Amino acid sequence: MLRVISQRSNLQTASYNIFRGVRLGFSSTSNREELITGLDDNNVTENIASRVGRNLHLQPNHPLHTIKQKIETHFLTLHTSFETYSNLSPIVSTKNCFDDLLIPPSHVSRSPSDTYYISSTKCLRTHTSAHQSTLLKESKSKCFLCTGDVYRRDEIDRSHYPVFHQMEGVKLFEEGTHVSVIEDDLKKTLEGLTQELFGDVEMRWNTDYFPFTDPSWELEIYFNDEWLEVLGSGVIQPSIITNAGLTQPGWAFGLGLERLAMVLFKIPDIRLFWSKDERFLGQFDGGIVEFKPFSKYPSSDRDMSFWTGSQNFHSNDFAEIVRNCITEDIIESVTLIDEFTHPKTKEVSNCFRFTYRSMERSLTNEEIDRVHFKVRERAVEELGVVLR
Ligand code: DAH
Repeated sequence: MLRVISQRSNLQTASYNIFRGVRLGFSSTSNREELITGLDDNNVTENIASRVGRNLHLQPNHPLHTIKQKIETHFLTLHTSFETYSNLSPIVSTKNCFDDLLIPPSHVSRSPSDTYYISSTKCLRTHTSAHQSTLLKESKSKCFLCTGDVYRRDEIDRSHYPVFHQMEGVKLFEEGTHVSVIEDDLKKTLEGLTQELFGDVEMRWNTDYFPFTDPSWELEIYFNDEWLEVLGSGVIQPSIITNAGLTQPGWAFGLGLERLAMVLFKIPDIRLFWSKDERFLGQFDGGIVEFKPFSKYPSSDRDMSFWTGSQNFHSNDFAEIVRNCITEDIIESVTLIDEFTHPKTKEVSNCFRFTYRSMERSLTNEEIDRVHFKVRERAVEELGVVLR
C-alpha cells in the first residue's frame, strides 16, 4: 500500500512558523544541528538526524536519482514549463506540512507516533506535498516537480524505512477550465509517465481520498502478476490555491521513488538504497538495470515478549527504539507474531519476532545478542514494558 497521508488521523495542533528552506536551499550540517533541540516536543533521534543531508536522490547513478531523472526528463520533454526542485529543506513548518493542505488537527498523520517533530511548529516533512503551497505562493510556479527525502515513524520490514523519497507534481490551468478537462489531462499525463517507466502495462484508476484533492485517484498497474499502486493524485482543492493567492485550478500527484525503484531495478530490500557498499553502488550506471544480489547472508531470528504495561504503547515507538539501538542496518524486520490480553488483569502481551540480517556481511551470534539485549533494556526503560 502506498504510504498515504489518507490512511492516518491525529493529535498535535499546529501554529504558523516560517519555512526556512525554500529560498535558501539546504545546507546539511547547519540544519542537522537544528534537528535535535532537546525540547520536549522533539522526537528526532540521532539515527534519523544522520540521514538528513544524505540526499540519495541527488547522488549520480544512484537508482533513486536515475528514477527522478527519468521522470523529470519525461515531463520536461512534454512541457518545457515544468520547474524542478530537488534541494528544498526537509525541515518544514507544521503549517506547510499539514494545515496548508487541509489536513485536520485530528488527523493521525500528525501524531508524534507517526511524525518526527523538531518542535511543536516544525517537523521533518512527511511528504513532498508540504511544498505545494509555498511553491505556488512564493515562486508563482504554475507547473512543477518537487523531489526530496520524507520522514515517517513506521514499522520495520523490507519495504518500510523511516526515510524515503517522494516526488510531487503540480500543474495549473487557465482560470475557468472545467474539472473534466483537468481530470483528462491528469490521467493522460500520468498514464504517459507510467508507460515511459513500465512499458505497455495494464493500468487502472481507483477513486481515493486525500484531504488536499477532490476528486482523488490512485493509479495501479498490473506488473509481475499483481496490482501495484504507483501514485496518488487528484484535482487540487480550490481553497489551497486561493490561500496561495492564485485563482487557477489544477492537478497534483505524489509518488514514492523507492517503491518504483524496487520494482524496476528488482531491489529486494529498502535498506539497500542506503548502502555505501561498492558491490551495490557499483552496479548502477544511470540506466535502469536489474540488481544482482551480491550475496544473501543468512538471517537469524530472536523473539521478544513483554507486557505492554500501558494503554499508550505504540508499535512505532517500539520500532524507533529498535532502530536507535541498532544503528547499522542489520535488522530486516520486526513482526508482531502474537498478541493476547490476560483474561483477568486485562494486561496486553506482545511477542515480536526480530529477523536480523545484514545486506553486506555475516553477523555473529554474539553481536546479535548484544544489540538484542540493548533493545530489551531500552524498551523497559523508555516504554515501561515488562519483559516476560
Ligand atoms: N502526499 C501524499 C502521500 O504522501 C501523496 C499524494 C497524493 C500527493 C495525492 C498528491 C496527491 O499531490 O494529489 O501519501
